[in-house]
Amino acid sequence: MTRDEFRVEKAACLAPMAGVTDRAFREICIEYGASCVTTEMVSAKGLVIGDRKSRMLMEVTGAEMPAAVQIFGCEPVIMAKAASQAEKTGCVSVDINMGCPAPKVSGHGGGAALMKDPVLAAEIAKACAEAVSIPVTCKIRTGWDEGSVNAVEMAKRLEDAGVSALTVHGRTRRQMYAPPVDYDTIRAVKESVGIPVTGNGDVIDPASAQLMLDKTGCDAVMVGRGALGAPWVFKIINEYLKTGAVIPEPPIEERMAVMLRHIARLCEYKGDYVGIREARKHAGWYIKGIRGAASFRREIGSLESLDELKALADKVIESQVDES
Ligand SMILES: Cc1cc2nc3c(=O)[nH]c(=O)nc-3n(C[C@H](O)[C@H](O)[C@H](O)COP(=O)(O)O)c2cc1C
Repeated sequence: MTRDEFRVEKAACLAPMAGVTDRAFREICIEYGASCVTTEMVSAKGLVIGDRKSRMLMEVTGAEMPAAVQIFGCEPVIMAKAASQAEKTGCVSVDINMGCPAPKVSGHGGGAALMKDPVLAAEIAKACAEAVSIPVTCKIRTGWDEGSVNAVEMAKRLEDAGVSALTVHGRTRRQMYAPPVDYDTIRAVKESVGIPVTGNGDVIDPASAQLMLDKTGCDAVMVGRGALGAPWVFKIINEYLKTGAVIPEPPIEERMAVMLRHIARLCEYKGDYVGIREARKHAGWYIKGIRGAASFRREIGSLESLDELKALADKVIESQVDES
């Protein structure tokens, strides 16, 4: 896809989440209708020095299209080289992380630290946009802290630098992930640029998706934590945005079947040892809100195999049926 062909559908896409949005999860979210998915953030420096783990993080396959690769860093030349490597994966676009609050990223000038230096942020975006032929997008916050809300200035500079679309997480870096979401600033960004703007922050269902669209006028919504253990959230939100119909959450049998499919792929792609350890946090999310979740969660903590997870899923299903 060329830069000019880039379109943002009025729909929900999957947020990039380090430690979560790996190949297995991205595939499942696409199957459930996510309009687009993004990799975990990948270190530009890591890519440029040939780090194997960084390269693996940005691998995308046909089953997860449309997929974007997200990179982070703070040096225009290195970011441009990384963007060019990302383009070779076959991804539809390259996203630049300008919102990560973690000290290991923002403490070294990348992620949300770029909100404090809009000139450098634009230089990075320009270098990346010139290095690739696919669209470059940026994911920003509203500002560094409440005293420096500058998303509009950032957005204008990034648009001028050649960025094709923006996502605005409606919080400052200082807020991290705490409420409230600043819809007014997302709206101000949308009104100040001509490129598509995706609204992000606390979208978890049709009502919150509609709220984001209504309050900000944004073109699309991005879902992060609302998709943890609930990849069907995309089907629910996108069906609503398309037809107005509110479809119910899947029954426990489907939830457990999706969990097993997800974890089986995780094990296939990463090997059983890593897969089952990473599965523990996902399994905890998949049983969120069900009766007896606390005791199941204790069992999940010591899971050692896919067979044990299957047995647990059966027990979960049985426990819900018995008590209803
Ligand atoms: C576990 C976790 C990891 C995240 N990793 C990234 C990341 O790699 N890149 C990024 O731009 N944002 C990252 N984020 C932020 C999300 O993309 C999103 O902006 C944020 O969670 C707000 O959306 P939500 O309210 O729908 O969760 C992460 C968030 C979480 C919870």
